[in-house]
Amino acid sequence: MPNVAIVGTQWGDEGKGKIVDLLTEFADAVIRFQGGHNAGHTLVIHGKKYVLHLIPSGIVRANKLCLIGNGVVLDPAALIEEIQHLAELGVTVNSNLFKISAQANLIMPYHRELDVAREKRKGKGKIGTTGRGIGPAYEDRAARRGIRLSDLLNRQGFEAKLRDNLAYHNFMLENFYDASTFAFETIRDDTMRMANILAPYIEDVGQLLHEVIGKGQSILFEGAQGTMLDVEHGTYPYVTSSTTVAGNAATGSGIGPTVLNHILGITKAYTTRVGSGPMPTELNDAVGEHLGRVGHEFGATTGRPRRCGWFDAVVVRHAARVNGLSSMVLTKLDVLDGLEKLRICVAYERNGSQIKNMPADPSVLDMCEPVYEELPGWKTPVAQAKRMEDLPPEALAYIRRLEELTGVAISIISTGADRDQTMIIKNPFS
Ligand code: GDP
Ligand code: IMO
Ligand code: MG
Repeated sequence: MPNVAIVGTQWGDEGKGKIVDLLTEFADAVIRFQGGHNAGHTLVIHGKKYVLHLIPSGIVRANKLCLIGNGVVLDPAALIEEIQHLAELGVTVNSNLFKISAQANLIMPYHRELDVAREKRKGKGKIGTTGRGIGPAYEDRAARRGIRLSDLLNRQGFEAKLRDNLAYHNFMLENFYDASTFAFETIRDDTMRMANILAPYIEDVGQLLHEVIGKGQSILFEGAQGTMLDVEHGTYPYVTSSTTVAGNAATGSGIGPTVLNHILGITKAYTTRVGSGPMPTELNDAVGEHLGRVGHEFGATTGRPRRCGWFDAVVVRHAARVNGLSSMVLTKLDVLDGLEKLRICVAYERNGSQIKNMPADPSVLDMCEPVYEELPGWKTPVAQAKRMEDLPPEALAYIRRLEELTGVAISIISTGADRDQTMIIKNPFS
């Protein structure tokens, strides 16, 4: 059975959660492979809304194995809160079906404090992070001092690591950032209490996946953030601290890349971004306001308004290359309903010459102007269409043009937030 990796092709919030939920029907296991609770993935099922931050978006479907891979940075308090929140919504997170990699690194309270203190220090030049401690936790992993889930099962080892980490981070917090420091005993006791709750979920997830593959079952890999937020391929330094592209679906899960059969890029019919950094097609006009209002473009994690703009084909072409996209899902097509004219950015212009591919130095984007192509809009709501043929001809022309400009076929079209408001043209699992 095929395995499908889902990635965002823009700056996140493309609608990955909705599509993961939809396609979980065809998978046996779903795994988050990077990021942390900076993600906010929204599902709407028959009008009922669920927002997931850490737990895979397959959790609402019964009897699916839901996993958190080694590539994720995990805040134990946030995970426990999410489990409780899901229980209130009637979704049980069962320790037979939900497992967290013993190799995943923990986000500790000092990581959150460092994240916030750094942003404060940067002032105007801030990244606009979610303030969840993501960056500092990944830094500790790379610095080889990170505390992993497996450490929670070894109290002595945990205490030694915590002591070392606190000595270093408290020094930085106090002397460099002029921020609050943390008491060893408080963190130790809080973490040990949470360790008791999380212990049943801790597992060798890579090995578990290997067994799932051995049984010929299907896996859905759920990416968070988007290609332009990738720490290497995005608009560095205005990015997150993890590798968000498809290659990391393997590395962040503990299996090899030959297991990935289909790379599915989730692409919004226009562009949004939360936080700072270049966004060539950003609109500060009535159209931008339309996209934000009709698309309800507010962050699912922080509630911040998202910056909105026209579709940027240079961005998605870049995503097609760095992810090796097999096909795309086009989401939020309905948000374009009623707009007189639509624009697509086909290239950038700098000093009179055109740039067709994403510049290797993203700071160049600040000096570029988008080159637009104009297409007619449509009046009939696309949500009324149940099949491709029912779409207004202008919407079909828009879709075909996006396929031509990006070189990637669109396999699914989403015309509303609900699971049912979706047209599957070609199922990536078939
Ligand atoms: P994710 O982070 O990629 O999972 O996306 P978010 O959940 O942060 O943001 C996408 C938002 O758009 C959510 O509120 C979804 O419920 C909503 N959404 C997803 N697909 C569609 C669609 O086709 N049309 C509309 N109008 N809303 C959608
Ligand atoms: P999902 O999975 C949109 C952005 C933040 C900030 C930058 C770095 O819902 O698509 P971080 O806290 O990760 O260090 O912040 O990345 N960001 C997201 N933007 N969607 C997300 O996740 C994001 N996760 C992080 O706004 O600009
Ligand atoms: Mg989101």
